Amino acid sequence: MSLLRVEGLGIDFGGLRAVHDVGFSVGPGEIVSVIGPNGAGKTTLFNMISGLYLPGRGRVSLDGADVTGMEPHLLAARGLSRTFQNLQIFQAMSVLENVAAGHHLHEKGPVIADMLSLPSSRRRSRQTRDSAHALLERVGLARAAEHEAGSLSYGALKRLEIARALALEPRVLLLDEPAAGCNAVETEEIDRLVAEVAAGGVAVLLVEHDMRMVMRISSHIVVLDHGEKIAEGEPASIARNPRVIEAYLGAQAGEANDAVG
Ligand SMILES: Nc1ncnc2c1ncn2[C@@H]1O[C@H](COP(=O)(O)OP(=O)(O)O)[C@@H](O)[C@H]1O
Ligand SMILES: [Mg+2]
Repeated sequence: MSLLRVEGLGIDFGGLRAVHDVGFSVGPGEIVSVIGPNGAGKTTLFNMISGLYLPGRGRVSLDGADVTGMEPHLLAARGLSRTFQNLQIFQAMSVLENVAAGHHLHEKGPVIADMLSLPSSRRRSRQTRDSAHALLERVGLARAAEHEAGSLSYGALKRLEIARALALEPRVLLLDEPAAGCNAVETEEIDRLVAEVAAGGVAVLLVEHDMRMVMRISSHIVVLDHGEKIAEGEPASIARNPRVIEAYLGAQAGEANDAVG
C-alpha cells in the first residue's frame, strides 16, 4: 500500500525542464529519500507534491485519491505536511507558539468562537498548548517552550520546524534538507527523530545532502539528475550504482559506502 504516489510528474520553467517524468511511491512507515546534485529538481518536486507549484504533467495521489494541483492547506487537511529548505520559523514568537501555529491549521473550530473567547475555544486553545507541549517534549525542546524562537541554535530550530509540521498530525511528511547546516550531533538527533516519526506509521519523503544520514535511515532512495530519475533502490545498491556515483556521489562515494557498512 502506498500513502503517497507520484506518477510521471513534471514541470518546465520557460525552456528549462526542471522536473521530468518522475515517479515513485512511499508507504506508511517508509522513509524515501530524494538525492541529487544542486539544481537536480528536488525542491521543485517537493513544491509540486505539496501544492506550491501546479505540475505541468503527471499525477500526485494521497492514499489513492488524486490530489494533483490541490492547494497546500487542503493537502494539509488531508494529512500532508512539510518543512522548508530555508527555515520558515516565526523568530519573534515563542517556541511553543510556533508549534501552536501548526496546530491552528488543523483546528476545525470557528474563528468567531476564538474572537469571542468562548469556553469551547478556550478549551481548544488549552488542548492546543497541551499537544504543542507534548510535541516539544518529543523533539527535545520542552525546556525551551517559552523562549523566543530566534534565540534557539540552528539544530534546535530545525527540530522546531519538524515539531510544527508534526502538529498537523500528518500521514505524509516531506522534509527538505532537515539536517542542512547542522553539526554531527544535531544531525544524529534529527536522524533519530525522523526514524521515530516513520516508526509511528508516517510516510516520510526526505531531501537531504548528508549521505551518512540518507544511507542510514532510508527505506529506499530516488536519485534525480537534471530533473530526471536516474536510479531508484535500496541504499546499498544506490551507493554502488555507477551512474549515481558519476552524477552525484563522486567524492562522497567512499563515505556513503562506509555508512552502508
Ligand atoms: N520558480 C522557479 N522559476 C524558475 N526556475 C526555477 C524555479 N524553481 C526552481 N527553478 C530551477 O529549476 C531547477 C531545479 O531547482 P531545484 O528544484 O531548486 O533543485 P534542487 O532542490 O535539487 O537543488 C534549477 O535549475 C532551478 O534554477
Ligand atoms: Mg533544494
